[in-house]
Amino acid sequence: MKPRSRRPIFVFVLPHIARSPRDLLAWFDARLRDLPWRRDADPYRVWVSEVMLQQTRVETVIPRYERWLERFPTVEDLAAAEVDEVLAEWEGLGYYSRARNLHAAARVVRDSLGGAIPGTARELRDLPGVGEYTAGAVASIAFDRPEPAIDTNARRVLSRLFDLETPSPARLRAVAAELIPNDRPGDFNQALMELGATVCSLRSPRCNECPLADGCLARARGTVAERPGDSARPPVPEFEVGVAVALSSEGRVLLVRRAERGMLGGLWQFPARVTEESESPLEAAVEALRPLAPEASPARALAVVRHAYSHRRHFYHAFLFRAQTEPEPDPEVLAVAGWTAAVWEPPEVSGRGLPAAQRRIARALAAALPC
Ligand code: ADE
Repeated sequence: MKPRSRRPIFVFVLPHIARSPRDLLAWFDARLRDLPWRRDADPYRVWVSEVMLQQTRVETVIPRYERWLERFPTVEDLAAAEVDEVLAEWEGLGYYSRARNLHAAARVVRDSLGGAIPGTARELRDLPGVGEYTAGAVASIAFDRPEPAIDTNARRVLSRLFDLETPSPARLRAVAAELIPNDRPGDFNQALMELGATVCSLRSPRCNECPLADGCLARARGTVAERPGDSARPPVPEFEVGVAVALSSEGRVLLVRRAERGMLGGLWQFPARVTEESESPLEAAVEALRPLAPEASPARALAVVRHAYSHRRHFYHAFLFRAQTEPEPDPEVLAVAGWTAAVWEPPEVSGRGLPAAQRRIARALAAALPC
């Protein structure tokens, strides 16, 4: 790529932050963490890491990233895999649409782009699941393009640095674009995110450790705690879910597959439904199982598993049911119940992608067996 001409950064507009990019990069260099995705700037690797890092902590991502690359070392390997394998490999990372989109995008790269991941944010955005953030991260980290990549942590840093109350995405991109140095755009973006994650935190920012403190407008004006002004989270709705773990006399359990679209799309789980008004979790579990295994009867409570999604919290009340037979549910009955497939499986339920909460229920069952 042809380097952009060097120009003074913001010197005429906001002299107090003119030094910010260099100070931030010096801070980043001094505390550089040896993270596996920082070892080389291969676009596929950067892309996978950035998708995994969205909504998932670094410590969780490290082993999963390494395992993923062993299983799907290149974009061609990912494209060649079946979506079920990909979802199973993603198990436990949550937000499964990220995995489905990565897989779909790998196929676009293979089938329409000659196997080459595009190098500009604009082209990257045309791939399934690639939004403003991921496009900017891949373009800057893997291709050295001076593109902003603003996650919630970077947004907080920028809002404080410029004392912005409720900045729009366009405004944030504009201020970030002014700061990004041409020679190290990827490091700059990562440093901004890392500063937000570690020093410029939401509730207890450590301004005395911040390399940008001297130029921080919010600090000068005493508004750090209020910036950005819209970060208070609305209350998360809670749902009780009745879950039916039907164990047959053959020692297998019944699993159903969720619809492709929507939350946890395409994953497998035990039959379940959200309680309706004045319905107990056990009653909901009975109702969830009735169309699939009408003869099964409830035996005992198995576990209560709490799981927080981004926008809602679920309490899964799992009950063990005994089934004498293993009925094969009618496809129409399944469809009415909202499932796309059903299988009777050994209770370890290996080789299928299960959401984290369902996996915990499977473990509770394993701990209770033989029962
Ligand atoms: N958060 C998401 N991606 C990141 C990265 N590459 N560096 C630091 N924090 C991140």
